[in-house]
Amino acid sequence: MSTYYLTTPIYYVTAKPHLGHAYTTIIGDALARWHRLLGDEVHFVTGTDEHGQKVQDYADAAGKSAQEFVDEIAPLYEEAWRRLNISHDDFIRTTEPRHKIGVAELLQRCYDAGDIELDLYKGKYCVACEEYYTDDELDAGDLCRIHKRPVEYYEEENYFFRLSRYQEPLLNWYAAHPGVIVPDFRGNEALGLIRCGLRDFSVSRTSLKWGIPLPWDAKHVAYVWFDALANYITAIGFGSDQPERAAQFETFWPAHHLIGKDIIRHHCVYWPAMLLSAGIEPPRSWAVGGWLLSGGEKMSKTSGNVVNPLDLIDDIGVDGFRYYVLAETTYGQDGDFTYEGLIARYNSDLANNLGNLLSRVATVVDKKCGGIGPAPRTDSPLAIDAESAYTTSAQGWAAVQPNRALDATWQLIRATNAYLEANEPWKTEPGPTVDAVIGDALEALRIIAILASPAVPASSDTIWHRLGLPGEVTDQRLPNAAKWGGYPGGLPVVKADPLFPRR
Ligand code: MSP
Repeated sequence: MSTYYLTTPIYYVTAKPHLGHAYTTIIGDALARWHRLLGDEVHFVTGTDEHGQKVQDYADAAGKSAQEFVDEIAPLYEEAWRRLNISHDDFIRTTEPRHKIGVAELLQRCYDAGDIELDLYKGKYCVACEEYYTDDELDAGDLCRIHKRPVEYYEEENYFFRLSRYQEPLLNWYAAHPGVIVPDFRGNEALGLIRCGLRDFSVSRTSLKWGIPLPWDAKHVAYVWFDALANYITAIGFGSDQPERAAQFETFWPAHHLIGKDIIRHHCVYWPAMLLSAGIEPPRSWAVGGWLLSGGEKMSKTSGNVVNPLDLIDDIGVDGFRYYVLAETTYGQDGDFTYEGLIARYNSDLANNLGNLLSRVATVVDKKCGGIGPAPRTDSPLAIDAESAYTTSAQGWAAVQPNRALDATWQLIRATNAYLEANEPWKTEPGPTVDAVIGDALEALRIIAILASPAVPASSDTIWHRLGLPGEVTDQRLPNAAKWGGYPGGLPVVKADPLFPRR
């Protein structure tokens, strides 16, 4: 069995969960669900990034201790993911002891390797990015280009990670592992950053207390990005002295990372260099997403255009929302969120296509087949559509292109609706002709329920059970479960309320 360790970025607790966070997490969830169907041993992890200057500033402003502050926000993420039916296997908080132990171990390894050294730092720092910038990286008036607000001037003794030593090793590693960053153009962006030359980066601060102390010099706390990136290994037991936790690291590492385009430098440059320094294999892959824009701008607390995903699921249902996020945008590119777009997709793809198909089939089985679903034909014309739906879906998920994967599944839904319209079983007298057509449609629906389940898990379950199929969708294993002919016939089909009422 192959393992599939998938991570999302860990989210800053300075903002409540919004559509931008939900976007990456839902993509991760769908991928995790797809890989479970493939029979992989999946370990899907998300979490929260809780240290650093920004969190300290927010806590101060709220008149709370940093710990109190993070303890209030982190559960909002867990709650949001529960409501969005996210199937993560673990949720890591960087304030947990298991994380702190692993960060100390990683720091120590890089220090022992001679890659962390003390130096004086003078420079400009954007607290919102938690990043130092040079003058040519700033807009006039020393404004951060992302946050459009002034950077702060810092001068202090810092430990530095000697990233400048890693240009050649990183270029060599990427050359030996082509295609690890998808989409390709994002991979080129990362390589461009490395080719431009690498500056050492500070890995510690003395003016800040809210962080993890360096194991060899406790006056310093670890730079928040060093701390945060380490979550990907600490979550699976790196640095643990418990044998079963340490074994988890051996089983699952290296990870497949999902990240946003704004954190390529940290994930595709700093992180593999840190790992190489510590003698750990770099990640297996990075899938880089664009931003979900709202009114043309990245949705963020600072821009004030935040959409709360939990408000949307009240309007459109969890699966309606998940489907929109996955189907509407091309992962890697920016996508534009509009409420009208959300409703339009829901009505066309879910209400009119999938929901309508299920209702039609259940109605005909009820009226013309005595409520018992007939078996499909082995030589059904839909068998070819089903086969290509599976093959193209599999390619789409493998390339981290959920919209392509879902479009392939929806092709099968459209083909099945067209097949029913061409044969009009509702106008035909009960008998073998109706049975043949409806048996084919039931079999198509069985396959559709499986292929659509990473996106709309609860609705797929409902379809599965209305078709009278035994077991659960999540017990199905691909590719066999998608082979034509699995619907046995002779099962009671339930006719019930529309799965996706029109909005
Ligand atoms: N804490 C860091 C990540 C550390 S990972 C070791 C961070 N947090 S974040 O909450 O600001 O953003 C996390 C991820 O969410 C980023 O990849 C970012 O691109 C993504 N998104 C935040 N807003 C987004 C949109 N509006 N659209 C799509 N993704 C967005 O960075």
